[in-house]
Amino acid sequence: MFPRDKKHEQTNNPLGVRKEMDIIVMPTAAEAELLTARIIADAINAKPFYKLGLATGRTMENVYAQLVKMNKAGKVDFSRVISFNLDEYVGLKGTAEKNKDSYRYFMNYHLFNHVNIDKRNTHVPNGFAPEDELEAAAAAYEEEMEDAGGVDMQLLGIGRSGHIGFNEPMSSFSSRTRVVTLTKTTFEQNSPLFKKPEDMPMRAMTMGVGTCLDAKRLLLLATHKEKANIVAAALEGPVTSMISATALQLHDNAVVVLDADAASKLKYRDEYAFQFANDPKWAAYQPARKSSGRKTKAK
Ligand code: F6R
Repeated sequence: MFPRDKKHEQTNNPLGVRKEMDIIVMPTAAEAELLTARIIADAINAKPFYKLGLATGRTMENVYAQLVKMNKAGKVDFSRVISFNLDEYVGLKGTAEKNKDSYRYFMNYHLFNHVNIDKRNTHVPNGFAPEDELEAAAAAYEEEMEDAGGVDMQLLGIGRSGHIGFNEPMSSFSSRTRVVTLTKTTFEQNSPLFKKPEDMPMRAMTMGVGTCLDAKRLLLLATHKEKANIVAAALEGPVTSMISATALQLHDNAVVVLDADAASKLKYRDEYAFQFANDPKWAAYQPARKSSGRKTKAK
């Protein structure tokens, strides 16, 4: 079922079609965020009509700050980019543009207001639709992505529950955009971001795991110690719908960027570092090298 055969033909990826997950560990969160921003900028530069899947959350704030800097420096042009965000809360008051807790507000605030993207080309699931129109809004979101020709690269974070998007444990790997009820773990993770924690909605509209897997490329970023256990379970544990992020193991073109803290529980992190240091596809992304020859001590 995934990935669909036709996507192999459609892959337009400057790094080529990959058959295994690339795991890149940078020493610090700042370096991991910068590397993630560079991967995104390079992908856009290689294909200006890029369909970019975006994520929100604390992990992404500095990625977007870096992209804003690159855009202002003329290093990346968003003018023809079409974006699709993963998710939006359901049950917030007012409008998506004005409510400071909405993911539309987050995206405008951190990225869209500061780069030359055409806001009409930016899409966020309509969690603000009236209750009886939510299902139709979710279906319409799927159609918009399909009409655009599918998402070229989906940026992902990972929640403490193992969610990608808001696909909480037990989300079907073939799930599509829909309204979900959030878990206690996610409430504990995100409610401190609300002025009054009890104001955090308990529902959200999210792309499904299946929707994410349909993206031609996946780019997951995780940083800091609090993610170390769930990152290890997601990347090295068995594939299970109890941890939605394990679905990345089923994708043929997934890149995971971590800082040393988030990678600290990975059993094979030395192997990933060795592969990254010696893979010609990642040559341009290596930290400056002092000597030539095989690099055995990648950070
Ligand atoms: C956000 C999203 C979530 C977050 C995850 C991590 O659009 O879909 O999956 O990526 O909850 O959030 P932070 O980065 O705040 O730890």
